[in-house]
Amino acid sequence: MAAPRAPMIAGNWKMYKTESQAEEYIQGLLPRVSSVSGVDIAVCVPFTDLRAMVDSARGSRVEVYAQNMHHEPEGPFTGEVSAPMLSELDVSGVVLGHSERRELFGETDRALALKIPAALAAGLAPILCVGETEAERDGGDTERKLRHQIGEDLTGVPDERLADVVIAYEPIWAIGTGRVAIPEQAQDAIAFVRALVGGRSPEAAERVRILYGGSVKPENAGELLALPDVDGALVGGASLDAGSFAEIVAAAQP
Ligand code: 13P
Repeated sequence: MAAPRAPMIAGNWKMYKTESQAEEYIQGLLPRVSSVSGVDIAVCVPFTDLRAMVDSARGSRVEVYAQNMHHEPEGPFTGEVSAPMLSELDVSGVVLGHSERRELFGETDRALALKIPAALAAGLAPILCVGETEAERDGGDTERKLRHQIGEDLTGVPDERLADVVIAYEPIWAIGTGRVAIPEQAQDAIAFVRALVGGRSPEAAERVRILYGGSVKPENAGELLALPDVDGALVGGASLDAGSFAEIVAAAQP
């Protein structure tokens, strides 16, 4: 039997927390997760918090991720940050293709197809976010949307590296709305994403970790994390409080 997939709980802070607020948070989080085992824990923080978080989390179970990067290693791209800039800071990974970046900042599948291999080449673990809008779900277009995003965004990743990408299924209608996907919706969509990966590599489909994101809270985490294809959670609002984030981490403990 294949090795079980280690659960991962990632907190996506979005544009919250100054450096001093981040410091206070990590000092509150570390003792709360020090006895956790078997769960990969990540905080995905603003660029300005990265160095302080890497320093404070060193030697702990908590890994530090960025929330975006450019695909080129350097160049005339004002305001952008590259993969080597992140990896030199000892950042572990990067969220790519979050729906807020796609919808508000014009992030395209074409750009993601370049960013994901660039992250892997720099030793960063990418978390690729995919998911449908409410209109797409209501119109029966969820699978078409997921097929499109997974197909396009992972084109530059060779089959043998597919399982090094973490995928987060985040239905856009469930983000920041308090309207969590019902377990059946989360399981079905995530099993579908796994099958899409399996269409390229059955072995990668067994190993690739697929997270659920969208209004995950301590109260609903246990039920979502128990679903057979759900390997963890990408948590927005509830990750901003160290106590509630630690509760979600505890719910993932095997
Ligand atoms: P919420 O948990 O606040 O709904 O946000 C989910 C999300 O976008 C995580 O990336």
